[in-house]
Amino acid sequence: MVVAIGNDHTGYELKLEIIKYLEKNNIEYKDFGCGKLKTSDYPIYAKAVGRAIQKKECDLGILICGTGIGVSIAANKMKGIRAALCHDCFSAEATREHNNANVLALGARVVGPGLAVKIVDTFLNSRFSEEERHKRRIQMLEEE
Ligand code: RB5
Repeated sequence: MVVAIGNDHTGYELKLEIIKYLEKNNIEYKDFGCGKLKTSDYPIYAKAVGRAIQKKECDLGILICGTGIGVSIAANKMKGIRAALCHDCFSAEATREHNNANVLALGARVVGPGLAVKIVDTFLNSRFSEEERHKRRIQMLEEE
């Protein structure tokens, strides 16, 4: 599994914590986020992560901005991207099982690093249920 990670300026510190977790667990990743900046535009990083998944360069994505909302809105405009904003482990598990979410969005100003890493761990270790009703609903998401 290769994880695409992206962040704006507000998510830089949290990204470092998540990278520590990925490295400790030997999870390959590509970093599309910004470094330590005063300001930046979150759609740039959301689209870079979305493109990596669309091109199948990466399997799953993690996006971080202040609230997680901006990056999830930006990523969800992209075909085939299902970004889920999760600030609890129940949602992180359910969105993989039911929605086959391929991007986890996090708000660095909403959750602390301890909880964020647990949410990442839950997201990456949960699987799509493959149940017909969920497949049907995901298919409907792709329709205009
Ligand atoms: C940046 O101030 C902030 O607006 C951004 O990180 C994000 O929270 C937007 O949704």
